[in-house]
Amino acid sequence: MKTLLVYYTRTGKTETAAKEIASRIGGDLVRIDDGRDRKGILGFILAGFDSVSERSTGLLPVELPAPLADYGLVVVCSPVWAARLSPVVRTFLSTYGHALPAAAWLLTRAGTNAYETLFDAMDSLSGNRRIAAVSLQPGDHLYGGMLDAFVREISGAAGSSGK
Ligand SMILES: Cc1cc2nc3c(=O)[nH]c(=O)nc-3n(C[C@H](O)[C@H](O)[C@H](O)COP(=O)(O)O)c2cc1C
Repeated sequence: MKTLLVYYTRTGKTETAAKEIASRIGGDLVRIDDGRDRKGILGFILAGFDSVSERSTGLLPVELPAPLADYGLVVVCSPVWAARLSPVVRTFLSTYGHALPAAAWLLTRAGTNAYETLFDAMDSLSGNRRIAAVSLQPGDHLYGGMLDAFVREISGAAGSSGK
């Protein structure tokens, strides 16, 4: 079965982590976005506000490389914003979470708090599809043992035909 990596990124760190995983286990990468401009200081403030409000945002349409049913594992990747999921990933999970096959969660964050309670929120938005989860700080992204362990955990589910 194939692996799908779905990610939202504002400044590229979550994208880097998602791409690293794809380079190790294979899989299709899909960037999701709501088209809102969150660059700069004003964008940062708006991002924090959107996240705290926990309102749904509008997802831009994306074309999956293959039908969702062809994937055995979906890895959903989000930055932590204001101790919450990014609004785009929250909206993605509340819209499509229950349609996912086995799923794994990846968070990136700046601080030392891993925000593991967000994994529970992702479980509940998806109807408990989680097989693995990891929360990464910069520096963990490429070389930290946490990413290695996460890749080992999910590669079983992705199977040798994960590409
Ligand atoms: C609006 C906003 C709020 C954030 N809040 C937190 C936070 O509560 N805790 C934390 O550790 N990092 C926080 N961050 C930092 C991001 O989670 C971190 O830099 C992340 O890796 C960025 O991912 P990206 O480059 O893919 O956008 C915040 C970033 C933004 C833009």
